[in-house]
Amino acid sequence: MAKGHVIGNAQLRAAMQELVRGFGSEAREVELVVDNLVEANLTGHDSHGVGMLPRYTESFLEGGLVPNAHVKAVLDAGAMLRLDGQAGFGQVVGHEAMLMGIERAKKHGTCIMALGNAHHLCRIGAWAEMAIEAGLISVHFTNVISRGSVAPHGGSDARFGTNPFTVGIPVKGREPILLDFATSVVAQGKARVAHNKGEKFPPGRLIDNHGNPTEDPKFAVVPPIGAILPFGEHKGSGLAVVCELLGGALAAGRAWHDTDASKRRVHNGMLTVIIDPNAIADQATFERETLAVIDWVRASPPRQGFDKVRLAGDPERETKARRLAEGIPIDETTWKELLGAAGKLKLDPASIGKLAGV
Ligand SMILES: NC(=O)c1ccc[n+]([C@@H]2O[C@H](COP(=O)([O-])OP(=O)(O)OC[C@H]3O[C@@H](n4cnc5c(N)ncnc54)[C@H](O)[C@@H]3O)[C@@H](O)[C@H]2O)c1
Repeated sequence: MAKGHVIGNAQLRAAMQELVRGFGSEAREVELVVDNLVEANLTGHDSHGVGMLPRYTESFLEGGLVPNAHVKAVLDAGAMLRLDGQAGFGQVVGHEAMLMGIERAKKHGTCIMALGNAHHLCRIGAWAEMAIEAGLISVHFTNVISRGSVAPHGGSDARFGTNPFTVGIPVKGREPILLDFATSVVAQGKARVAHNKGEKFPPGRLIDNHGNPTEDPKFAVVPPIGAILPFGEHKGSGLAVVCELLGGALAAGRAWHDTDASKRRVHNGMLTVIIDPNAIADQATFERETLAVIDWVRASPPRQGFDKVRLAGDPERETKARRLAEGIPIDETTWKELLGAAGKLKLDPASIGKLAGV
């Protein structure tokens, strides 16, 4: 692994709070942004952790990210909500949108919530976790307005973003199911992390700017840009297009069909369906069948190369327990980018380093 730092959870939070104050964010916004990003690092998704802040800084400086903005209801029709994120921090407008959606689902049994014009909603699993916490199921289709980064199956250039698909299911008395992934074979941020660490990618994940296979993650990070491939060939490609249509065209009123790669903002559109399981199913039957499936799947004897069968959400819980105990690794390039962002926000980079203990 490339050189870097291992920073404690509390120290990383303190340092990043100082950095986010540089956006002029009110106290609640500082808290929501930092909690969300550090949680992504804790759960092992460094692609969506504090390493996003340099990008957010560039987006803020070009006017693509508006601090202290809040969701505005465009349509409020009981179980249907259409919300405008007003280019606010996704960590804030995503949180506010989910609070509204959860309240409606508790009242009506379900809520279909469309959120557009949100700055980066980051780890979409965070929004499913809010629903799970309230005992609700949620399904999220998300599109990305940034630049094309993923090629359609059979295509040779990037035509859409890494369009994540996410489902959260609470399980009584057990850990929830949290399926949350980019529809590309890897998330774009994972290419950034690999590029920052000077690592190669395994074959079959990327194509270069001529459409040829490559193992160099730079083709997903710096010009000339190639493309990341969709996961599962035509299946992932199809799901990515569905996310573009439902999260983008339907929910946000804004889908990606452009070649402009000049802007640093990352906006997301998200269609969320929230379901109260007790409103549609017999509670005892749903719980019994869910537990039976979980036990049945976990009981599959592990094949060679695997220690056990995991369910969606397990790897994140395991990584979080480890990183809370051992600290959060931040590679050297990402750390330098964070200090560079502090400078751009007119903060003293040394004070950030001091808070982080680096
Ligand atoms: N906001 C955006 O624009 C955007 C875009 C793309 C991705 N994302 C986020 O990036 C994050 C990372 O996405 P990713 O595609 O790199 O995730 P990933 O490839 O690590 O897959 C994660 C999912 O697979 C499950 N999983 C992983 N290993 C498993 C195993 N061995 N057994 C069973 N289940 C397993 C995890 O629990 C999780 O549900 C997600 O949180 C996603 O929401 C956000």
